[in-house]
This record gives sequence, structure tokens and C-alpha cells, in this order.
Amino acid sequence: MPAVRIDGKAFAEQLREEVAVGAAGFTAETGRQPGLAVVLVGSDPASQVYVRTKMRQAAEVGIASFPHLLDVGTGEAELLALIDSLNRDDNVDGILVQLPLPAGISEAAVLEAIDPGKDVDGFHPYNVGRLSGGKPVMVPCTPLGCLLLLQDRLGDLSGLKAVVVGRSNIVGKPMAQLLLNASCTVTTVHSRSRNMAEECRQADILVVAVGRPGLIGAEHIKPGATVLDVGINRVEDAQGQSRLVGDVDYAAALDLAGGVTPVPGGIGPMTVACLLRNTLTAAKQRSNK
Ligand code: GUN
Repeated sequence: MPAVRIDGKAFAEQLREEVAVGAAGFTAETGRQPGLAVVLVGSDPASQVYVRTKMRQAAEVGIASFPHLLDVGTGEAELLALIDSLNRDDNVDGILVQLPLPAGISEAAVLEAIDPGKDVDGFHPYNVGRLSGGKPVMVPCTPLGCLLLLQDRLGDLSGLKAVVVGRSNIVGKPMAQLLLNASCTVTTVHSRSRNMAEECRQADILVVAVGRPGLIGAEHIKPGATVLDVGINRVEDAQGQSRLVGDVDYAAALDLAGGVTPVPGGIGPMTVACLLRNTLTAAKQRSNK
């Protein structure tokens, strides 16, 4: 039986509607909208698209966004000064610094400068620690989106075997922590793993976040597994047309898996919806509403 196409786009829409209701309630109670500062350094085209999408969707759910689009030559001290001023700004509930940052700016220094209460990406060491201690406060958006889709599809994840492909700080590591917190048996595989296909074939849940088109094929998928494809890769097809694909061979996954997320329309929309949800959470926590 072919796999179910897991519709992240539709689920994200539902999530945004819930955030819109919460944001309207917050605004009625406090007299101001929840606020999200979005910081982009440089002009990386993909980052520009992501940042624009985040701000447009924020506006659609009643979250005020404060864009800070900085020149690629911006220095670390200037960026840290901006973050300091956003930390102090009472209209700003969430601060998002789009990654990657240009060479010469320390990502760690920047992420550590963000007030953990406004860290809607969940990248500050305080929030990383809270997650690994099993008491998360602000959870990274992409793994949170994956978890919500998995719980929606599978219910209780307890005891399931989960394999996470990729060990980035943004997706792989927090994803593994979330799945462990949900009582899965978790394995992380990465570029140095010796038996990747064999490990992946054990997985009831396979989350792939590497950024390599076609990395995962039929030989990696257990029949009936739930496959979440986090990769977003721009490739040229035989006609020279540019299109987006994930890390998973979608046709192979459709054949074998129980459920699979498409690219685009799978995890991508969930990431943005979870950012908006985190911003509302931060706003409520800051004002004790
Ligand atoms: N770059 C790629 N993904 C993300 C993300 O989730 N948050 C931020 N801040 N930058 C990113």
C-alpha cells in the first residue's frame, strides 16, 4: 500500500489559526501585539526568502515583526549591541537571528547574547540545557514541528525506534532529544556512521536532516515507517528547471513507508508555524498571561 503523504502545509495552517486566536487574546489583554524581531545579516538569497516568509506569516497571525536587515559587512560588536537593545525592548518578545551568519561573526557569541526568555529559536545554551534535562521551555522550531506531526500521526511515540539522520545543532541534536523525551529508542547517524542503511532500516520513525538530495532511498526505509524529510535542496532537473527536493527519494518512500512528508509542503511550513507559536509562548511568559 502506498504511503500516506503527510500534509505539513495543512497542519501548519491549523497551527497558525490557533496562534492567531492566542495572539488576538494577548493583544486584547495587554494592549499590544506579541512582537518578533527578525535579524538577517547579509543577502544570502535563501535566507532572504525564509526571513520574508517569517515576517509575512507573523503579520497574518497578528504578531508584529521588527525587521533588522543588516549589511554583510556588519561586525560582531554591532550585532551584539543590536541584540542588547532588543533584549531591553519591551515590545519585542522573540528574537530570531537567521543562520548562517557571515564568516567572522561568532555564532555562539551571538546566540548566547539573546535573552533566553526571548530565544524563540531555542538555540541559547540555557534552552539547549532545559531540553536535554527533559524540561524544555523554548524548543527549536523545526524539530518541534516534526514532533507535532509525528504525535498527530502516531499518537503516543513511547517505545518506538527512531533514527535521526544528521547531527546539526539546529535540527538533528534537538530532534534526538525530543524523541528521547517522548520515550523513543533513539539513534543518531551521521557522515561518519559505518552502517547507516542498516540503522535506518530499523526505524519506525526516520527523520532526515542533512541537506543532500537522494541521500535516503529504498534501502534505508523499513516498510510502514514514518519518514520526515527535513532537507530543502534546490536542484536542476533534466530540462534545466530549478526545483526543490528533500534528502529522501520521495518515490521510493511513497512505495515503502507508512507516511512521508513531501518537499515542499512538509516540514518547511511547520518550522515557520512553530516559530510563531514560540513567539506567542514567549509573549505570554514575559507578561504572565
Ligand atoms: N537557518 C536555517 N534554519 C534556521 C532556523 O530554524 N532558525 C534560524 N535562526 N536560522 C536558521
